[in-house]
Amino acid sequence: MLNDQEYRAIIDKIRAADIAYYQSDRPLFTDAEYDSLYRAVVEFEQQNPLLADPNSPTKKVSGNVSATFSPVRHGAPMLSIRTETDATSEGARAFDRRIRKDLKLSETAAPVRYRAELKFDGLALSLRYERGVLVQAATRGDGEIGEDVTANVRTISEIPQRLRGAVVPLMIEVRGEVYMRRSAFETFNERARNSGGTPLVNPRNGAAGSLRQLDAKVTASRPLSFFAYAIGALSETDDWREATNLPTQTALMETLAAFGFKTDEHARTVDGADALVAFHADVLRLRDALDFDIDGVVYKVDDRQLQRELGWVTREPRWAVAHKYPPEEMTTFVEAIEVQVGRTGAITPVARLKPVMVGGVTVSNATLHNFDEVARKDVRVGDKVVVRRAGDVIPEVVRVVLEGGGARAEPFIAPAVCPVCASQVVREEGEAVARCTGGLACKAQLQGALLHFVHRKAMNIEGLGDKLADALIAHGSVSRISDLYSLEAPKLISMERMGEKSVTNLLAQIEASKTVELHRLIYSLGIRHVGETTAKTLAKHYGSLDAVMNASIESLTMAQDVGAVVAQSIHDFFRQPVNVDTINALIAAGVTPQNPATAIGASLNENVAGKTFVLTGTLPTLTRDEAAAMIEAAGGKVSSSVSKKTSYVVAGAEAGSKLEKANELGVAVIDEDGLRGLLG
Ligand code: IVH
Repeated sequence: MLNDQEYRAIIDKIRAADIAYYQSDRPLFTDAEYDSLYRAVVEFEQQNPLLADPNSPTKKVSGNVSATFSPVRHGAPMLSIRTETDATSEGARAFDRRIRKDLKLSETAAPVRYRAELKFDGLALSLRYERGVLVQAATRGDGEIGEDVTANVRTISEIPQRLRGAVVPLMIEVRGEVYMRRSAFETFNERARNSGGTPLVNPRNGAAGSLRQLDAKVTASRPLSFFAYAIGALSETDDWREATNLPTQTALMETLAAFGFKTDEHARTVDGADALVAFHADVLRLRDALDFDIDGVVYKVDDRQLQRELGWVTREPRWAVAHKYPPEEMTTFVEAIEVQVGRTGAITPVARLKPVMVGGVTVSNATLHNFDEVARKDVRVGDKVVVRRAGDVIPEVVRVVLEGGGARAEPFIAPAVCPVCASQVVREEGEAVARCTGGLACKAQLQGALLHFVHRKAMNIEGLGDKLADALIAHGSVSRISDLYSLEAPKLISMERMGEKSVTNLLAQIEASKTVELHRLIYSLGIRHVGETTAKTLAKHYGSLDAVMNASIESLTMAQDVGAVVAQSIHDFFRQPVNVDTINALIAAGVTPQNPATAIGASLNENVAGKTFVLTGTLPTLTRDEAAAMIEAAGGKVSSSVSKKTSYVVAGAEAGSKLEKANELGVAVIDEDGLRGLLG
């Protein structure tokens, strides 16, 4: 239990955190830390009501009104939801018990109907519509008075400017959560990191900061979304009253959806405690796959008449509760800052952390993205940091928590040479990423290349993990990927942790990998910018490894979804002698790519690639579709009209006006044999 002095100290901390959060969008604590401070204050006040500070943060809804935006008085107060502290399934049962007791239901009475919803982790917003037209948008503020953010809210496309439907109330306050999708947040930050901008701390802070921009153009450039989940004040007209009946939260959500709002599609209307428990568990399993942050679920008594009967206590309704999940941001300490060298030489600084549970998973490493980010966040060994792990993205260090006092370690210095191979580290102009220039002479790059080569989606060689890859490289048994095919049993058996059986299995896997689909072989080479999809495109487009290797940049850009950067990268890769040697060694070792059956058999051909063809008339043996497919497979384009830009008109029997036009413009005219000649 706290003493009076500790109680006051915590109140001061909460006030400072509220000011930093609500007025400068700068969180001092993680949500979990804030909650636990808040709970300690509540507990102290319950046990020592006489010592309670009349201005305690528990006496008002937290959130404050800054001087920057005009104040707006809400038509009905925007309150908060009580948090169920027990994160286990017991939390849901305790809520149901309380509701049944408050409603004086006997044990045999029917289960209570609830609306179970996601608890969105964004920023609450109240939207005032008069005769169906959006007239004002306000943040929650202190619950009574919020900030006018109408101009900014008008830039959010998911918020209707006008309610849909013929019958709308005279006035309605629609309440919901502004948030930023995880994908939008990642894209925004990726771009910011690459262009020297300032990344956002997390999606919620991103949403809050974007909404409170002075310049609505800035808000417009930030991708914000909105979910509606409640209403505030409502003035009905007779028409509306007749047409609309809102007996339940479920019906209310349907009405909001009909108005044109996005509502929570995961929400369920359920009966009794068991269903709440199941909902809590189901949503937790779903949590990582969602494209937005949630910090729990909300249970609401569905019947709005019962809601009114249950009423409110201080700042929270009695008919709703928030049931939390483990936080996705936690604080821990940096034990070391190391750099990792990836297979393309990209150098990523990584924080080794004192292990901590984040969102239900133990995290002991977190990415620092790049050296600019380390400097900007000023992360140093020994620092207390906030770590975020949300969805399936790699955990990251969000920020340092400076607690004043104590001396810190020296700032981190980016290495000038690769820590693995001592080659120079370079940063290309305009690139945020630093790279080791060692190529496959760098053991880290070689290890990355090897692990990529054997990957399930590449050559699919099982039984070669990072330990064995390390050992093979250290022994000198593998100095380029093709060396895998010269491994022999005696050498493998001599390696640590390699039994006879695993050696036999591994060798069988390596042998089996020699027969491989072409796109897998292309992908396994680890060409920069060539993922699985591009590898498939290339295999299909060119039909053989030779054709891909010989393709010109111009021809490459003709392949589907291959842009200039990717084409350049593919072209460069096959012009580097080490890569050509490796490929030759693979083929010499017996690797035989299976060319795709779908390719028409034509390989890319400089006569055809980049050229435009027009087909006209009936060809002797080929249909027009077949001819077009052959031209396209060889990198050519097929157009339907003849112009000066047409390279060839392929004319068959009964060719008409297109042939005339070709003659007029002096475009070369060929027949099917001529086409076959070009295709080679
Ligand atoms: S209902 C009377 N439903 O959580 C209750 N709130 O801690 C009014 N929130 O201020 C709110 N998801 O910003 C409600 N499905 C949901 C919610 C939700 C997130 C937020 C909202 C509210 C806070 C309460």
